[in-house]
Amino acid sequence: MAFTIAIDGPAAAGKGTIGRAVAKHFGFAHLDTGLLYRATGRRMLEDTDPVEAARNLRASDLDAENLRSPEVAQAASRVAAIPEVREALVNFQRAFAARGGGAVLDGRDIGTVICPDAPVKLYVTASDEVRARRRHAELVAKGHDISLAEVAEDLRLRDARDSARATAPLKPAEDALTLDSSDMSIEQAIATAIAIVEKALPE
Ligand code: CDP
Repeated sequence: MAFTIAIDGPAAAGKGTIGRAVAKHFGFAHLDTGLLYRATGRRMLEDTDPVEAARNLRASDLDAENLRSPEVAQAASRVAAIPEVREALVNFQRAFAARGGGAVLDGRDIGTVICPDAPVKLYVTASDEVRARRRHAELVAKGHDISLAEVAEDLRLRDARDSARATAPLKPAEDALTLDSSDMSIEQAIATAIAIVEKALPE
């Protein structure tokens, strides 16, 4: 049975953490689609044409070192505005969603463009301050030397670019449920998401 859970939302909203935990809970596969754009953006920083990079992306590219850095995140958001880059990544994402056994995909356009028929669509968000604090803590824990203000600026720039682009902009699908985790612990946000999926699963 193919059962797709689409999770979208702004930068550092907790989509990946929630997506991974929901997938683990139900035994579904999980795809962090941001990694596709990060891997493409990283290739652009190495002077590869981004459209070529997206067309030639391999699964092993998603495991590359340092895809989580803010520099790569900015490059990801720039290549993500190129329609041919997005086009090159559609089939991989749809094939992942259609696999048997259930799939969770998180990104910006999963509920709107990649899987518009997904039976569960979540739009995960949190206040700008909460998102910046959480991402800052994550990056510092991974050894990055970065200030809270720099992280907040990375998120602000990316959200503005991701929301304003013409192709597949960041926005909630009309039928998405919004999960605002500003005042929740990550455990509460995960439990809320699991309860929503539970209700939507076929008997
Ligand atoms: O983890 P975080 O929310 O900071 O970012 P991400 O999900 O790894 O995505 C990095 C960038 O890739 C975003 O800022 C978007 O520009 C782009 N992206 C996209 O356009 N569409 C997706 N489905 C996923 C990511």
